[in-house]
Amino acid sequence: MHTQTDEVINSNKIDFYQQICRQLQELLGNETDFVANAANTSALLAQALPDVNWVGFYLAQGEELVLGPFQGKPACVRIPFGKGVCGKAAETGETVIVPDVSKFSGHIACDPASRSEIVVPLLNWNRTLGVLDIDSASLNRFDEDDREGLESIASVFLASQTTNDLPDLSEEKAQN
Ligand code: SME
Repeated sequence: MHTQTDEVINSNKIDFYQQICRQLQELLGNETDFVANAANTSALLAQALPDVNWVGFYLAQGEELVLGPFQGKPACVRIPFGKGVCGKAAETGETVIVPDVSKFSGHIACDPASRSEIVVPLLNWNRTLGVLDIDSASLNRFDEDDREGLESIASVFLASQTTNDLPDLSEEKAQN
């Protein structure tokens, strides 16, 4: 049931994400380096978000995601598009919220403590450059406000990139 208390918590959540977006803009400043900005984005989110145990990026190389900057326990390095929660977000270009990872067929367990997860794709002209993946040790940690907030965070991160600094997704590069 949707209560008045839920509404207060949720409006605070949106304010909270707006603050994080502003902090991220300040933190990234005029820096355009992809790895540096992805590293600082994951560090800021890991510090600021309550109840999360893994925050990080997977970056597209051809039809595969490869582990990028992150905060948390060591994680699996390569995830094909379409596999796991990350691969699904990468393939569909849509944010995926998993309230209970044990019920998501094909979930890839990196940290066994993770019980719920949200994955936001990083899109550039409808091409998936990678994903932002966040895990929690609590069930049902992420809701529609988290989706909205984290999609805004992903936009701030992407806005820090100039075209020349975006990863080279050309087919030739993927085959090498
Ligand atoms: N659980 C993810 C794999 C990455 S880890 O959570 C860091 C998935 O199923 O795609």
